[in-house]
Amino acid sequence: MTAVGIDAIEIHTGKLKLDLAETLAPVKDKDPEYYTKGIGLAASSFPDTYEDIVTMGANAAYKLMDRRGLTPQDIGRIDVATESAFDNSKPVSTYVAGCLEQVFDGDFHHANKGERKFACISGTQSLDDAYNWIRAGRNRGRSALVIATDTALYARGDAGEATQGAGAVAMLISEEPDLVELSTEQGYGSADETDFLKPNQQFPSVDGKRSVQVYLARMREALEDFESVAGDTHPDDFVLGPFHTPFPGMVRKAALLAYRHMIRDTEIEEQLADEVGRQPRPEAFDSDEDYVEAMGDYTDLLKGTDTYQEWYDSTIAPTLEISREVGNWYTGSVHIARASGLKAMLEAGEDITGDRLLVGSYGSGAQAEIHAETVREGWKEEIAALTIDEQIAARRDISFEEYERVHDVHNHDKQADDVEEFTSPEDEFVFDGWGRMGER
Ligand code: CAA
Repeated sequence: MTAVGIDAIEIHTGKLKLDLAETLAPVKDKDPEYYTKGIGLAASSFPDTYEDIVTMGANAAYKLMDRRGLTPQDIGRIDVATESAFDNSKPVSTYVAGCLEQVFDGDFHHANKGERKFACISGTQSLDDAYNWIRAGRNRGRSALVIATDTALYARGDAGEATQGAGAVAMLISEEPDLVELSTEQGYGSADETDFLKPNQQFPSVDGKRSVQVYLARMREALEDFESVAGDTHPDDFVLGPFHTPFPGMVRKAALLAYRHMIRDTEIEEQLADEVGRQPRPEAFDSDEDYVEAMGDYTDLLKGTDTYQEWYDSTIAPTLEISREVGNWYTGSVHIARASGLKAMLEAGEDITGDRLLVGSYGSGAQAEIHAETVREGWKEEIAALTIDEQIAARRDISFEEYERVHDVHNHDKQADDVEEFTSPEDEFVFDGWGRMGER
């Protein structure tokens, strides 16, 4: 069967940087380590006043098409995943296509366009749609363009303010892909939840503590559902575990949960028994409360072992490096986690062709998806072509007052008085008023 998966990827970060320890912590009267160690973030990316979800998405897609020498005729489908949309009727993909048609020969009149919404998981859902479309043989030799683009901003003073970010990831889904192959092995955990909502409002209403619990509960269900298709998982089956990363501290919890699940009845649990001097996993419970307490103790014990730490350092920590510098990108977050992990492997000189990734996506409201991907032969060239390090380094570091101004500009409900830009656009699409196409 022809392989189908992610052929190419490009990332565009918002051009401004808010340093959390240096700039936010003193104003919020917080210990800088709350951000850098507790939450696990050094900085947030922000869009400059001339950037929005359309321009960031179009800039990422332009880079991808230009680098791969593609024209609109090569693309049969454009899906944009976002939870920051400003139009309840016209999908963001039509705006992005309009931008791209300004610079490439030909048009996208033949292409199916849509917008996917299910909070942060919709980027992965769009990948799945593209995969299914190609697998169904409806692509006529063409590829799909999937763009995950968001301005992940919270109301000022909200606990989520520590985890903001903005950027876009463009992915090309094709037959015989260069980066990773997707497969039919996937599992879901899904329930009607109200932990994070944006009912016709720009900034979310969030029950932060609850959202953490819902993330973990749905992720556990998805892992079990995945195993019902793929068979029991083992930590050694996967070279990297990119998870949706609202902030690295969340993934620390998810990784521990996944590991605890995967080592059940394996030789690792025996190894741990030696390491901690007793059989670590509790066996019988008189009540649910006893169960929760015993599993809590077990998880704490697990966290402190060298065996767990080594797995975390090699499989999870590399996926968090980009996120640490840019914050939450909602729909793009799990896709920058994959890119981050692969980039770290490339920099370490590892050859992981043929190895598998365990990808954990999550969207509030709420749904998790676990699926497996296989690294393809062309991964090194694809990852080497990323310019995300240079983009991160080039961001303009803003003061707290500048942050407040730019935050107001991106609040659709508020008319900002001062919309002066902080950086100069260079050969890129720029925002030109709501509902109008960016210009390059
Ligand atoms: N030094 C080191 N660590 C510190 C510290 C310090 N001075 N102060 C606190 N910490 C640690 C805490 O011990 C805690 O560690 P653990 O997670 O290991 O327990 C960590 O920092 C975070 O501290 P709090 O739990 O007290 O943080 P908080 O309550 O202020 O904020 C949050 C956490 C509620 C999740 C908040 O960031 C939030 O509302 N975020 C937005 C919602 C969100 O991201 N939810 C995640 C799941 S939902 C999702 O994934 C979808 C999405 O993208 C939004």
